[in-house]
Amino acid sequence: MAACVLLACAPSQESAQSSPTTGKEERIELGRDLFFDVRLSADETISCASCHDPSKGGDDGRVTAMGIGGAIGPINTPTVLNAGLNFSQCWDGRSPTLEDQVHQPIGNPQEMGEGWDPVLSRLNQDAEMVERFREIYGEGPAAANIADAIATYEKALLTLNSPFDLYQGGEKESLSPEAARGFAEFQRLGCASCHQGLAFGGNMYERIGIMGDYFALRGTPLTEADLGRYNVTGREEDKYKFKVPGLRNVALTQPYFHDGSAATLEEAVRTMAELQIGLPVDDVQVSQLVAFLESLTGVVEAELR
Ligand code: HEC
Ligand code: HEC
Repeated sequence: MAACVLLACAPSQESAQSSPTTGKEERIELGRDLFFDVRLSADETISCASCHDPSKGGDDGRVTAMGIGGAIGPINTPTVLNAGLNFSQCWDGRSPTLEDQVHQPIGNPQEMGEGWDPVLSRLNQDAEMVERFREIYGEGPAAANIADAIATYEKALLTLNSPFDLYQGGEKESLSPEAARGFAEFQRLGCASCHQGLAFGGNMYERIGIMGDYFALRGTPLTEADLGRYNVTGREEDKYKFKVPGLRNVALTQPYFHDGSAATLEEAVRTMAELQIGLPVDDVQVSQLVAFLESLTGVVEAELR
């Protein structure tokens, strides 16, 4: 098995299982506050929201992530919006659950940096914070209950209220004719064979570049991150496979792909048609597909942003 260099998503030793004694609403609220709390990072400059802004598509708009001290990470930041719908977390699926995933950025020097001990000592000095944890979990801040609160918050970051959802619910006028044609193309071309289910993705691993060599076309040297699922399983057949990303809110999360190499949605759509399906698309088809993908933009509830 390959070394876990992508610490952002290295599987954690600690599996967060705690048993909260009070309601979900309180856990969501606590999780939201923790998600925005810079005390979770070594130099107290970065919160989860710095890289995953829930009011701006749930990501950071960068090619690859920037953590504490300006450290540049190896991979593009995926959105946290609707991440609760994914069958695993991170591009290569190395983190099985949202609870597990929370541990990764905390210990990753390219993200937040220093592990739990200093984070816990900072939070435990905050009497009000300690009291909130006690009320919910019957104990003060600890790695497992922080992970539980943040994951509970993340599970609430659903945006199933997009124009496309309204259209599916019977409001036929909420989708433009162009977007409706784009949806038909999306199905006809076979995009939906990989980008499937409620999230339009998030439930299988597929190779990037099935009908052509993605990395040769990209023209920059291969990185360890490019190995994808192989970094988790060590199996030859998993090289260059990534979790098929969900496409909800994709219009807000440029640049695209695990390496952030596609600057625009148009470019990502063209690359997909050529390399995943082997059917180059014309400008009209691209605009229709993009109009459909734009119709997947929903809204996070105000109190969660
Ligand atoms: C420095 C930027 C940065 C910070 C800070 C950060 N993340 Fe991430 N996050 C990333 C990157 C990059 C990935 C992808 C890592 C990979 O796939 O190897 C990621 C992946 C994720 C995923 C998986 C999403 C998916 O679709 O697979 C979730 C969930 C997540 N982060 C939540 C969090 C939480 C919670 C925090 C705070 C405790 C946090 N992140 C802090 C950059 C960041
Ligand atoms: C064989 C499976 C497969 C098919 C078919 C497929 N995709 Fe993808 N798609 C993927 C994978 C895997 C990725 C992630 C690749 C990467 O990041 O290296 C992806 C990424 C994307 C992205 C970028 C998402 C992001 O957040 O970075 C978009 C947009 C997209 N696909 C749209 C489409 C469209 C439109 C079609 C049809 C023309 C399509 N895909 C067909 C597997 C597929």
